[in-house]
Amino acid sequence: MSAQESIERWDRGEIARVEALATQLRSSDGATRLFAVRAPGRVNLIGEHTDYSGLPVMPIAIDRSTIIVAAARDDSMVVLRNVEPDFPAREFRIEVSIPPYATGDWANYVKAGFQGVIDHFGKLGITSNQLRGATMMVDGRVPPAAGLSSSAALTVSSALALMAVNGLSQDALETAQMVARSEWYVGTLAGGMDQAASMLGRQGHALLIHFDPLRVAPVKMPPGAAIVVADSLEIADKSGKVRAEYNRRVVECAIAARILGNAYRLRKVRVLGDVVKQLEQWSAGELVETLAKNAPERINLTQASGLLHVEETLLRDEILGAGARRIHIDEARPLEILRRARHVLTETERVNLAAEALASGRLEEMGTLMDASHQSLRDNFDASTPRLDTMVASARDAGALGARLTGAGFGGCIIALARESDATAVLHRLEKDYYAKLDGGAAARALHTIVHAGPGGSAIELT
Ligand code: GLA
Repeated sequence: MSAQESIERWDRGEIARVEALATQLRSSDGATRLFAVRAPGRVNLIGEHTDYSGLPVMPIAIDRSTIIVAAARDDSMVVLRNVEPDFPAREFRIEVSIPPYATGDWANYVKAGFQGVIDHFGKLGITSNQLRGATMMVDGRVPPAAGLSSSAALTVSSALALMAVNGLSQDALETAQMVARSEWYVGTLAGGMDQAASMLGRQGHALLIHFDPLRVAPVKMPPGAAIVVADSLEIADKSGKVRAEYNRRVVECAIAARILGNAYRLRKVRVLGDVVKQLEQWSAGELVETLAKNAPERINLTQASGLLHVEETLLRDEILGAGARRIHIDEARPLEILRRARHVLTETERVNLAAEALASGRLEEMGTLMDASHQSLRDNFDASTPRLDTMVASARDAGALGARLTGAGFGGCIIALARESDATAVLHRLEKDYYAKLDGGAAARALHTIVHAGPGGSAIELT
């Protein structure tokens, strides 16, 4: 790994941040051999809540990143310092299975990235006791809990940092695959979109990502198009209450998939993507109709096991996970399967259309698909909030071609697609219609800006 290899992917601001961190690390620890890594956040243009069903998504990596400067240690300790005082210093040891901190601790995302490296390289014969620890300075500039994947930026950059100090390298696609499931470590059954976007981002391009196996096709962003991102300031903290809703959606989609798998007599169906991939031709309309004929709209796990002719304990183990990895959902509430499947399947159709529309520069069509995505997330997936709906409506009124919530939802950010000439008007309208009505200073506090598609994660050795 040489500085030349990837330094062109770093912008000037990032290089300045690296220098500041390196100076601190050199003066406090006397470290000499330093590595710097960066990993960006993402916004998803379309394909929301499809990744964990193994269905495609189309995000961009954004020009906001987490940077880590790291020095190798002679022992197996990891010493973490974050420039942000809200995130206290942490120390832990590298071992085969790193125990997590309490839920919500920022350093769990570092541990998640490390665990990914340990598991992956362990299979290649590099055991955890062969890995050196690191002293790491972290500077994250992806706004947290806003649906912009600050967690993936931290997880991916941590994995890259541990690899760098240990002289491990591999293809970017392999690294993306390695970290794809890392949020399971923190108890969220997330798909692999955020990590893939953070690792594989490409300047000026959206990424059409397929899963199982992971494949990425860059789609050039058409000239004259602007992506506006605006934070609702409604906290979408995936390690908190949003996690319960998120995991619940994963369970609902998995049950819908199995019922469809039985209805079409398919084999080994675990997620909706398994259904779609085994049927030569399909349409969301037809699959939703089949589901409606074969199951009630809402169901509980006992009823689902009866319908699927699977023992309930087995179904629970398969869908909720077993042992310490078991997730908990509120079982007093019925599981909504029909509306969830309707969202995921229609969204998949929209992603396919959106990739073509974007590639051919048909911005109005792209905008219409984004609008439809938001409506479905609101009406079928119950993932929007009144505040997000208000912001989306304002953006459209101000001339955006389309707007939608981005990320898991339940708060966080919206994105709007606008012609470059209209983007400022969209931002001003959000200030007037939305931020001005929140408590004082909201507009100054909240991220609301135009973002650009930037490059994915990389590591350099500082010389
Ligand atoms: C979160 C998850 C992703 C994805 C989105 C919704 O960002 O981390 O894997 O499921 O929500 O599309």
